[in-house]
Amino acid sequence: MIQTIHVRTNPEYDVTIGPGLLRECGTRLRGAVPLCHMAVVTDSNVAPLYLKTVKDSLLEAGYQVSTYMFPAGEEHKNFDTLSGILEFLAEEHLTRTDCVAALGGGVTGDMAGLAAALYLRGVKYVQLPTTLLSAVDSSVGGKTAIDLKAGKNLAGAFLQPSAVICDTNCLETLPPEVSADGAAEAIKTAVLSDAGLFNAIEDGMFMMTDTAAIIAHCVQYKAGVVERDEKEQGERKLLNLGHTVGHAIEKCSDFTIPHGHAVAAGLAVMARASKRLGWMLEEGINAWTADRICSALRLTGLPISTEYSPEVLAQAALSDKKRAGDSITIVVPREIGNCELKKIHVSELEAIIRAGLEV
Ligand code: GLY
Repeated sequence: MIQTIHVRTNPEYDVTIGPGLLRECGTRLRGAVPLCHMAVVTDSNVAPLYLKTVKDSLLEAGYQVSTYMFPAGEEHKNFDTLSGILEFLAEEHLTRTDCVAALGGGVTGDMAGLAAALYLRGVKYVQLPTTLLSAVDSSVGGKTAIDLKAGKNLAGAFLQPSAVICDTNCLETLPPEVSADGAAEAIKTAVLSDAGLFNAIEDGMFMMTDTAAIIAHCVQYKAGVVERDEKEQGERKLLNLGHTVGHAIEKCSDFTIPHGHAVAAGLAVMARASKRLGWMLEEGINAWTADRICSALRLTGLPISTEYSPEVLAQAALSDKKRAGDSITIVVPREIGNCELKKIHVSELEAIIRAGLEV
């Protein structure tokens, strides 16, 4: 079954989800991107798997195609790689009516998107996510970025893609830890949005099958949030649930701990902190939301703690984008489907993290 979710931003675009879509991505893109020079950007993990399929489909549909591959890994999400992509676009003489296609996971989507935002002051781009993390979260919503030494995603731009095509067949062969990475963002979305999705995940839905339904649910929720708050002035900050501590963990580990694993630990920390600090509403007969969140994360093979101390994490979080002057906005889970933005003084963060780390 193929599902389409329309995102009403500027530009508006469709997110299409279903099996086998990369084989037909050329014809599927024709409605959103008139025939042009398509520069496909991908990494060294994804290129051997899907680049030929995508290139053939684009050529068959009538696009002119160039391809660029960079070394896979978060450690390459930096200025050097971005500069390589920009030089490639220039060498290939892409013009303002041409388009970049990001084929891969979150790192590829964020960097190819940023290159599209910068090149000639902005060209179109499309997202072809091949990981669960990029399918449920990063390919939708127009956040593009690279990491700086000071922290995650610190240089970036908002640019909505012109289309997102998510071939669910790509997700079937992901290594378990890469799937778990995406599951962390899906669990985050379930905590933010809805008890039905959370119950399904809690009951082992990921173990069973219906990943496409989970993706569609997450994208539908995110589309609504992004439509109401494209530039993260308010409501969109909720999507950062687990990310203040998560980004700090990534930074402390020199980006060796993958994003989803770090976010999972960050989400668990915020859930336990919320329970201990009296922000969480008791739920059900005997299960606290914090315990349910930690169980769901564990069931999916994700960490619910971290080796880093509250001092180190709080220090690392001070360069996070979510800081504004001396305050930082954290996202507090109160119950499933009910999370709250809390503006705190930066000096309060360490104690909150400590409360969330004590098991
Ligand atoms: N990944 C969070 C957002 O797109 O806002």
